[in-house]
Amino acid sequence: MADSGATVWKNPLRDERDKRAPRIAGPCSMVIFGVTGDLSRKKLMPAIYDLANRGLLPPGFALVGFARRDWDDEDFGRVVHDSVRTHARTEFREEVWERLAEGIRFVQGTFDDEPAFEELAATLSKLDEERGTGGNHAFYLSIPPSAFPVVLEQLSRSQLAQPAPGRWRRVVIEKPFGHDLTSAKQLNEVVNRVFPEESVFRIDHYLGKETVQNILALRFANQLFEPIWNAHYVDHVQITMAEDIGLGGRAGYYDGIGAARDVIQNHLLQLLAFTAMEEPLNFTPDALQNEKIKVLSATKLIEPLDETTARGQYATGWQGGEQVVGLLEESGFAKDSTTETYAAISLEVDTRRWAGVPFYLRTGKRLGRRVTELAVVFKRAPHLPFDATMTGELGQNALVIRVQPDEGITLRFGSKVPGSSMEVRDVNMDFSYGESFTVASPEAYERLILDVLLGEPSLFPVNAEVELSWRILDPAIEQWAADGKPEPYESGTWGPESAQEMLRRTGREWRRP
Ligand code: BG6
Repeated sequence: MADSGATVWKNPLRDERDKRAPRIAGPCSMVIFGVTGDLSRKKLMPAIYDLANRGLLPPGFALVGFARRDWDDEDFGRVVHDSVRTHARTEFREEVWERLAEGIRFVQGTFDDEPAFEELAATLSKLDEERGTGGNHAFYLSIPPSAFPVVLEQLSRSQLAQPAPGRWRRVVIEKPFGHDLTSAKQLNEVVNRVFPEESVFRIDHYLGKETVQNILALRFANQLFEPIWNAHYVDHVQITMAEDIGLGGRAGYYDGIGAARDVIQNHLLQLLAFTAMEEPLNFTPDALQNEKIKVLSATKLIEPLDETTARGQYATGWQGGEQVVGLLEESGFAKDSTTETYAAISLEVDTRRWAGVPFYLRTGKRLGRRVTELAVVFKRAPHLPFDATMTGELGQNALVIRVQPDEGITLRFGSKVPGSSMEVRDVNMDFSYGESFTVASPEAYERLILDVLLGEPSLFPVNAEVELSWRILDPAIEQWAADGKPEPYESGTWGPESAQEMLRRTGREWRRP
């Protein structure tokens, strides 16, 4: 067991009982596979610098890159430096950078190159001596899933996956975790052959977002919301993840994957789980994961799927004042690609709390604007003692969690329009992070990388959650594959007509965020 026997590192300066104190990682190193990729450059390296800058990494921390490129330590150091200068969230401080740079190493090799893994092992043990990383290593697989088996095999063969008393080994896996339930099971088997489940950290970066964690605070730290968080009061829930960007440059990953696999299977179903789950006994990883597993087990697609789901593919259109091409003209995509760039599904959660309350999930590229939000839409008041003309403009109450951008929460309710007559209209009451807090939110990857180094698994979906999410989604993906082509929608709009129709059929409308 890769984590067993490892003594948990305790920061001597921290009072463990005070959960507000900064959590600082103990001695360790992180190895990144796939260090030449976009994710490494734009998210992982900057997040590591930001953690160092915030004083949350140990002084002897080491970062090791592994890739095919003909680089030495200095070359790799320059790549990290450029990525930090361009993408880090916090200000650049020379002394922080220099301390971090001392622990940067590069190992050149391909994933099936045994001697390269021997060299990696030698590099890590040298770092243990020189920098006091204590034999604690995290291996971050920012590589295509097809390369997982060979890298895991090499880690196992070179004893790098092997913990010993007092030192831990962990593996971090980026999505996609398979492309359906069967392949996810196979992937999990491969991973668990080398690393036991408690040493596997599956990244769903949405769980690293402050606004997503705040769903738990909103629901379980307050008296106000939980009493109405159920089928008696809630009409339906809408979860939207809209992006304005297209898929230029991402064909290799995205073609054949599509919107549902890319983000509904993971980010949106995790948002649903946070919204719909019961109160956990406490915030231990087990308690939280158990509640998510329970609610995902109760969740399924509403049928018939040709009426309750929709998918589309962006076509030419206008975005931000510029004309943009459709998916089929993006470089690298097959000219007859049936990959969907928009997907919407309707779910039910078969529990007493949610009986009869639909959860509508949608996501798309090249939509009107970038916004992720979760709207709990309430039923109308059972009786209105007003003349109908007074409430013509009154909609349904809604609580909207604005995940990004403009992070915050909006409560929408009816209010009297000032004047001598009685007229009621919707107004918004707002909480905004920017106005209420002076500290900026850390990037999701900062939080998650720190949690990996601390061995804190609460914010990482376990095997069972991944498999349940595929179980929920697979029937829709199968049906779409049988149906042929997704419906084209003009770039810069809010998606295909069939998605509007899907909600209209139920007497509802998508929100225009
Ligand atoms: C990733 C998806 O997981 O999330 C991308 O693969 C998507 O397609 C990205 O663009 C969006 O992340 P964020 O944090 O900008 O909402």
